[in-house]
Amino acid sequence: MIIESPLIKVRRAVAGDIEALDAIYRESWRHAYTGIIPALHLDRMIRGRGAAWWRKAIIRNEDILVIEAAGVVAGYATFGPARAGGAQRRGEIYEIYLKPVYQGIGLGERLFEACRTALDNRSYSGLIVWALGDNTSAADFYWRRGGRPAGTSKEPFGRTKLSKIAYSWP
Ligand SMILES: CC(C)(COP(=O)(O)OP(=O)(O)OC[C@H]1O[C@@H](n2cnc3c(N)ncnc32)[C@H](O)[C@@H]1OP(=O)(O)O)[C@@H](O)C(=O)NCCC(=O)NCCS
Repeated sequence: MIIESPLIKVRRAVAGDIEALDAIYRESWRHAYTGIIPALHLDRMIRGRGAAWWRKAIIRNEDILVIEAAGVVAGYATFGPARAGGAQRRGEIYEIYLKPVYQGIGLGERLFEACRTALDNRSYSGLIVWALGDNTSAADFYWRRGGRPAGTSKEPFGRTKLSKIAYSWP
């Protein structure tokens, strides 16, 4: 069930969102991956991205959507052409992250559908999203939206290798 409310709005990210994007990235990634990605590497990933990274992405006009709840930016998603090419011209949601306090109330579904619509409008013939195998809540979310595992890969974090699963939609 997609929530429709005048208080919920999905729109393209603008320069005024940089601070919020940076804060959501740090909080949501730490919340999602503590206990999954080794702490040293998670810290490095979080410190390695900052306001400057987001500013550059917005200046480059990369596809970033934000979802606002009652005027507060609650999450973001980035998307574009699938990184692992292949013959098929598929779209990919690279990242979809909500602040923990806004998770589980339907905002992710709304943001996910907005990404799908944006990709469909560009005539991509399918969608792919990668999730760490241990990120079970994300896996459940994609499964319940109709995504099915279509491939696996390994992501190295120092000596630890974590499995990643590609969820695919036709
Ligand atoms: C994964 C993530 C984006 C999903 O977004 P979310 O907002 O938490 O998920 P939703 O609330 O939209 O969907 C969860 C369930 O809540 C239900 N829901 C919808 N409206 C609701 C409401 N008003 N109240 C309660 N639940 C509601 C949805 O129907 C859905 O149920 P279903 O999956 O059985 O259909 C989000 O949890 C998140 O940011 N997680 C951490 C980061 C992460 O792991 N990102 C993915 C990396 S691959």
